Amino acid sequence: MKHRPATDAIHRGEGDDRSASPLTLPIYETTTYVFENAAEVEAYQAGQSDKYLYSRYSNPTVVGVEQKLAALEGAESALLLASGMAAVTTAVLSTTKVGDEVVCSSALYGGTLHLLADLLSRFGITTRFVDPVALADPTTYSDRTALAWFESPSNPTLRCVDIAAVAEACRARGVVSVIDSTFATPINQRPLALGVDIVMHSATKYLNGHSDVTAGMLAGSVERMKACAYARKMLGTVLDPAAAYAVGRGVKSLSARMAVHNANALRLAEWLEESGRVSRVYYPGLPSHPDHAVATRQMPGGFGGMICIDLDGDYGRVTRFFDRLQLFKRAASLGGIESLISLPVLTSQYGHTDAQLAAAGVTRGMARLSVGIEDVDDLKADLEQALA
Ligand SMILES: Cc1ncc(COP(=O)(O)O)c(C=O)c1O
Repeated sequence: MKHRPATDAIHRGEGDDRSASPLTLPIYETTTYVFENAAEVEAYQAGQSDKYLYSRYSNPTVVGVEQKLAALEGAESALLLASGMAAVTTAVLSTTKVGDEVVCSSALYGGTLHLLADLLSRFGITTRFVDPVALADPTTYSDRTALAWFESPSNPTLRCVDIAAVAEACRARGVVSVIDSTFATPINQRPLALGVDIVMHSATKYLNGHSDVTAGMLAGSVERMKACAYARKMLGTVLDPAAAYAVGRGVKSLSARMAVHNANALRLAEWLEESGRVSRVYYPGLPSHPDHAVATRQMPGGFGGMICIDLDGDYGRVTRFFDRLQLFKRAASLGGIESLISLPVLTSQYGHTDAQLAAAGVTRGMARLSVGIEDVDDLKADLEQALA
């Protein structure tokens, strides 16, 4: 991994103007890099050079954005990957081997659940799904457990686990702890400072923030990221430089966007609860949320832009509400500046069995709101007319 400004001159290829000092990070649209002679290639292969060899291994644009993300997470090192799921796959495969067990929170994004339960299980990596509270208990882990995987807040019910307690339990048992911190962002929560080994994000969501790029991120110590970078190289899960540029551009406004996401979502969650028009509002910033105390402790920046509501577990009622919305767009995904709504049973939890839904705490009457940065009164008026 390279640790230097990505705008450093790196080659003598066509059109390389060393007098230019660009304000923004250039997009290095190149698959390969020019060496002067065999000695330079030898030095690279011996790890004694900061040159680049091939963009599947690393690329100056990608590295430039990775350095920003590492600084944001308070990490020694960060990696960009082709999607959030590429980040999950790369992290799991770089920390496990055949015969190992993954212990995973049952409150989980559906894609991660299916990857672990349906795909990786075919290669001898088994997963035990547990109640999120059990993750903080060292006795939850067996001698076969190599990895603990959890989200906080979780998708879609916004359950928050005590991150420091989970990290401590894992350390006591020699288990690598990984948190999917997508819903929190590094503005609201810094899991590495709480002792977690690896932080993962779907950068498709808040980090990019404009719903126009698919990307993933991992962050942690240099040693852990070296292992993940090796797996990324072999799996080919690296991010394209143009997409990395877009993530870097999005990150420039992350703090400003999160301030509005946090404020809008808190206001709407409070209003939804007071209105009495929905049977339950899940938002970690509400005192009624089961994990409000732990969220208050570990999310000093705010509680995020995601709200989940339940309309009596009634699929017919929630679809009528869903169909009537005008400002909230009916779309999967989250974390962009536009407000979106999705029904977990049709998107993130699609195809789950009743038992899997129950374990994830998801009902057929739930709607997940990704609250954007529009005028909050306009958003409230839209929810009001759709619930009327
Ligand atoms: C919490 C969470 N983790 C991971 C992912 C997967 O990310 P991606 O779609 O970028 O692969 C998602 C996608 O919705 C998500 O919500």
